[in-house]
Amino acid sequence: MRPPLGRVLVIVPTFNERENLEPIAARLHAAVPSASLLVVDDGSPDGTGDIADRLAAADERVHVLHRTEKAGLGAAYIAGFAWAREQGYDVVVEMDADGSHQPEQLPRLLAALEHADVVLGSRWVPGGEVVNWPRSREVLSRGGNAYTRTMLGLPLRDATGGYRAYRRAVLDALPLHQVASQGYCFQVDLAWQAWRAGCEVVEVPITFVERERGESKMSRSIVAEALWRVTWWGLRSRRSRRPLPAHVSKA
Ligand code: GDD
Ligand code: MN
Repeated sequence: MRPPLGRVLVIVPTFNERENLEPIAARLHAAVPSASLLVVDDGSPDGTGDIADRLAAADERVHVLHRTEKAGLGAAYIAGFAWAREQGYDVVVEMDADGSHQPEQLPRLLAALEHADVVLGSRWVPGGEVVNWPRSREVLSRGGNAYTRTMLGLPLRDATGGYRAYRRAVLDALPLHQVASQGYCFQVDLAWQAWRAGCEVVEVPITFVERERGESKMSRSIVAEALWRVTWWGLRSRRSRRPLPAHVSKA
């Protein structure tokens, strides 16, 4: 039996999400009133950090971590996870600020977490979908996930997605200080680490809605980082998965 879920913290990393932050906070609290929200802002030049401060001043469920420079999604989440631990939250949720991850679907993720260690909101399981994505993004996401499955032997349909919920005990058990992934491959990194640690990782279908306001931070260098890291992890683990030579005794 797994312990009951307890206190939930939703971490939303932001970089230039001025028009998106307030609506997403309102939708979150309409959908799951008891959840706390931590905005991790990387010094957005557009003033997102000030909006976050204003929200936090008006609502005790809202908190803000200000970081001085844009250091990537991975570093922002690692900082958020450390804060969650200090504050004693039991469940940590990752959610984008731009409305792609619908807060109205969070109860579905949390319900699945009752019987799992990690829940991934998945675009590529039956019932999952993407709304308003250009064909090029769909190809990139499906291709990236297929490559990840093949290279790592990871039995997940959407290991690159960023709408997910972790029991904090899972995060406590992973060597997060060693995570080097900066961009969106941070998501693959954590899914893979959790799975290899023996966690039960469950996928539930989500409807991912492409942002209507602001710009995606996806870039060529983010794709390149994911490609080389997944390739490297795959080759390295393949080597260690090789059967032991006959003369080595299996004590
Ligand atoms: N603090 C911080 N620092 N936040 C960041 C940074 C950064 O360097 N880069 C991006 N973000 C924030 C954005 O402000 C947004 O809230 C969220 O991370 C996602 O960024 P988007 O730029 O909207 O991502 P996307 O829609 O193109 O990405 C999709 O693919 C990613 C990789 O699979 C989504 O599915 C993501 O959930 C997924 O991680
Ligand atoms: Mn987005």
